[in-house]
Amino acid sequence: MGFDPWNPEFVAYPYRVYDELRRTAPVCFFEPTGQWLISRHADVNTLLRDRRLGRSYLHVATHEEFGRSAEPEFQELFWRVIRAGMLDVEPPVHTRLRRLVSRAFTPRMVESLRPRVRAIAEGLVAAFVEKGGGDLIAEVAEPLPVTVIAEMLGIPDQDRHLLRPWSADICGMYELNPSPEAQHTAVRAAEEFAAYLRTLAAERRGAPGDDLISALAQIDELTEDELVGTCVLLLNAGHEATVNVTGNGWWSLFRNPAELARLRDDRSLLPTAVEELMRWDTPLQMFERWVLEDIEVHGVRIPRGSEVALLFGSANRDPAVFDDPDRLDVGRADNPHISFGAGIHFCLGAPLARIELMESFGALLDRAAELELRREPVWKPGYIIRGLHSLELNVAG
Ligand code: HEM
Repeated sequence: MGFDPWNPEFVAYPYRVYDELRRTAPVCFFEPTGQWLISRHADVNTLLRDRRLGRSYLHVATHEEFGRSAEPEFQELFWRVIRAGMLDVEPPVHTRLRRLVSRAFTPRMVESLRPRVRAIAEGLVAAFVEKGGGDLIAEVAEPLPVTVIAEMLGIPDQDRHLLRPWSADICGMYELNPSPEAQHTAVRAAEEFAAYLRTLAAERRGAPGDDLISALAQIDELTEDELVGTCVLLLNAGHEATVNVTGNGWWSLFRNPAELARLRDDRSLLPTAVEELMRWDTPLQMFERWVLEDIEVHGVRIPRGSEVALLFGSANRDPAVFDDPDRLDVGRADNPHISFGAGIHFCLGAPLARIELMESFGALLDRAAELELRREPVWKPGYIIRGLHSLELNVAG
């Protein structure tokens, strides 16, 4: 098997293929998506910081100039929402948007949320243990980050159930070559989500509360589209990957029982364990960049207008950077994993994600004396956003 992101076997274990790519073809053209695959840590890290590449090209060229066709008309509102958030724009717009939002995500601001995050994690875990277990993803991994980001933004309790399906449907568009059905579902979700946020922002503009939507709604510099795009981005990015790190992380620990036992015996390893779980089974396997000016990687010229696919999961297993990279080591001290990205788009929510993960792993280890897998979990089909359908556990306190 070679690189095959549509093959469930590859999605379940892409790491052997990555080894081969890193060794024999660190830059190679992948015909089915028309992208250049980049698999070594040093190259992924360098290209993420290289301003000759961008998450978008629309600030320097038209679709025609880049030899691409414009998206179909039915997707117009989807892209209007997505491209109004900071993740899909480049400077100077990116710099402005990121500055407006980053105040809410400084390590100090986020640290002040820790007691609340802990209380939510403990409540969810207590209920989970009380009933002897169930699906860890639906009952703990999802509700924790969804509640935290929804509270930060000020989404009313009764509407929170809408967020996860909207986000999951929107994310369908990010997979490689999405089906027409996935595209329509994503468009519908973006339309509903945007309409919902427009109404909420209008209400908060008139009667502000102590939440991020109210704060953003007061900023004149922010257009209506930018406000909606920012909220959609925060709500989606604010939970998708955290859910998957929780599920993938526990599944990694079950596959490495000696490391689970080590963590149970020494809770001071939690910070390094969380980083290692993000490295060892990477939740976001690939990020794409457009080539805005010709570049050369290992002697291969990649011309302007091309697209590169940066293989985060491969970079995180590169033996040039990590000792014994296939070993899960919850105490790994030197761990420059790339799971939060690098460069100007480096994850804004990294400090929050780290707190959520430490609190939820810590709460379950504290509460559950026994944890046992009911059955081997199944991966969802997505390759870029990679996570488990469910993780069924028996738990005893
Ligand atoms: C373990 C969980 C998470 C992982 C692995 C993760 C990963 C990433 C990565 C790789 C990027 C950069 C994408 C690129 O360069 O193309 C990113 C960007 C971003 N993330 Fe996260 N993320 C996580 C949690 C969060 C949370 C909790 C939030 C919170 C609100 C968040 C908000 C964002 C935002 C706003 C951006 C865009 C930053 C920009 O474009 O400047 N993420 N994330």
